[in-house]
Amino acid sequence: MATAEKAQLPEAVLFDQDFAAKFLENNTRPGFTAISGFDSIRTRDGRTVEEVKADMYTDLKTFGQLEQRVKDQFRDPTGSGQRGYTPNQQEQSGERPEHREHIMIAQDVPKGHPITKYRPMFYRANVPITVIPTFDTNAQEFLSVLRPIRRRMFEDLAIHLGKWWGEFAAPLEDAEEFTRLHIYPSGDIVPGSARKLDHVRAIGGERVDGVDVVDLIYTNPHTGEKRILKGAMRAGPHPDVGFYTLLVGAEEPGLYLKDTEEGALAFTTARDKIVGNAADDAAVLIPGANSAIHWVGLTEQTVQRPRYSIAAFIHRRPKTEVAGEFAGARLYRRLREIGYDIPSGLEAEVGKMQPEDSQLIGQILTFSRNQPKELKSGLERYYHLTNPKTQSYEKIMERVA
Ligand SMILES: [Fe+2]
Repeated sequence: MATAEKAQLPEAVLFDQDFAAKFLENNTRPGFTAISGFDSIRTRDGRTVEEVKADMYTDLKTFGQLEQRVKDQFRDPTGSGQRGYTPNQQEQSGERPEHREHIMIAQDVPKGHPITKYRPMFYRANVPITVIPTFDTNAQEFLSVLRPIRRRMFEDLAIHLGKWWGEFAAPLEDAEEFTRLHIYPSGDIVPGSARKLDHVRAIGGERVDGVDVVDLIYTNPHTGEKRILKGAMRAGPHPDVGFYTLLVGAEEPGLYLKDTEEGALAFTTARDKIVGNAADDAAVLIPGANSAIHWVGLTEQTVQRPRYSIAAFIHRRPKTEVAGEFAGARLYRRLREIGYDIPSGLEAEVGKMQPEDSQLIGQILTFSRNQPKELKSGLERYYHLTNPKTQSYEKIMERVA
């Protein structure tokens, strides 16, 4: 069995000349990259990433301490855990109980935006977390500050790999992006039950050794009934789905990566870094990117304190292609594979959705012309309605015509 060692993640500095080379080196092994160098970037309301992150953690901890009946008001029962609040014990990793809750908030979509034609399958409405007045604003500002970071990251990578500079970044504009705020409650364990498991199957089938689990005494918050969850952890081993994940606040202990020998590599990162992790689609599309298996274990020490973490996920626009499949169809397929309750047949529905992506870009650019500066589409960075010389624009408009 491999021993979990605590490692500092290798770093890539945004805006540095060797960012892309370093990023690719780190993303191949160990799979996660600590990204720094974004201190100059501000939210729309003038906060640094560190400041908005700190404000979000304050909100999240406040939410975590609310009574269960209050938290339950923010559930979206039809949303498959993709929006609003999801209570503890709602999601499972195979047979293994996961001791966690989460809130999911997507970017706000302006009224009449062409992407709302893809509803209800994509761009679902958020469940406002009204009980904490700053919660939604902070989440939106957080998403807004990640946009210039990911643009720079993926543009640099495309240029480094000799591709059109918008190759990876442009399909992420006006696509689904959301933040997922995790609450991992503390708990009581059956004395002496903490152990390491080998041969644990991650979602997708890969094997992992050295996974920390405990037998947890779980109290149902509604009924007060107690039961024992055998072999519980906080999040089971999994690769991420979608295109890419950015994790802030990865300095708390408990997060593990699969190392080169199927073992567990415990890692933390410094406060002012964002941890980047290639999900399924980036691993397919970016040569050298690797979608790492990771999990949040439970030990006798970590179970005593609640853990909070914040991630942001980015998916490509649903009708862009990934490995011969629509990104949206692939997402549904993968969500089902990792255990979400996704009806079969949705993949075919994505194929029938209108407009096609190239037409959608034309429509968004037209819509964006009448928007105030802060609501302009990021697509204007890659395609110009008013500059027909832009090669990519011509390609798009040929297909629109
Ligand atoms: Fe993950």
